[in-house]
Amino acid sequence: MKIYLIGFMGSGKSFWGRSLGHKLGLQFFDLDELVKESAGKAIPEIFAQEGEEKFRLMEKDNLHLITESHESFVMACGGGTPCYFNNIDYMNQSGITVWINTPMEELYRRLINEKSHRPLISELEDDQLRNFISKKYSDRRIFYEQASTTIDEEPIEIQHLIDKIFHA
Ligand code: S3P
Repeated sequence: MKIYLIGFMGSGKSFWGRSLGHKLGLQFFDLDELVKESAGKAIPEIFAQEGEEKFRLMEKDNLHLITESHESFVMACGGGTPCYFNNIDYMNQSGITVWINTPMEELYRRLINEKSHRPLISELEDDQLRNFISKKYSDRRIFYEQASTTIDEEPIEIQHLIDKIFHA
């Protein structure tokens, strides 16, 4: 069973992915961490030194590498993963995709304190961040909406997350 968690930055993909892996007894992968390890540098450095395009290629390569070499896992994707190449189709064909659809106001509240390691928002003032979230969220929604299942509840409960996945 391959489970991919998708959703905007700050939606808790890594947190819930780790819990889910633990509960289901599945290996957990964090795609950002895989990219970081394979590049030997942090994500802001990849963006600054090699550009976003290179990052997106590395993201896709690591997504394929894990998917093709493991039977079962939970993966927390990056916020942009489903929006580049044909990653959303690839993930839907390989397993179950779960969109954690956190309300925008909540994303803003979380991201305001977590800008530094996210190159797309690290330079933004607080009011610019609000506009960025709103615009990016509406651009990306079309990809997120293709997920096998969506978690809209806030706060999330792990059992509900599991039930949704098994009914997807
Ligand atoms: C990105 C989200 C980040 C990371 C990179 C780009 C995005 O992951 O992949 O900074 O395009 O939304 P998180 O969603 O884990 O912050």
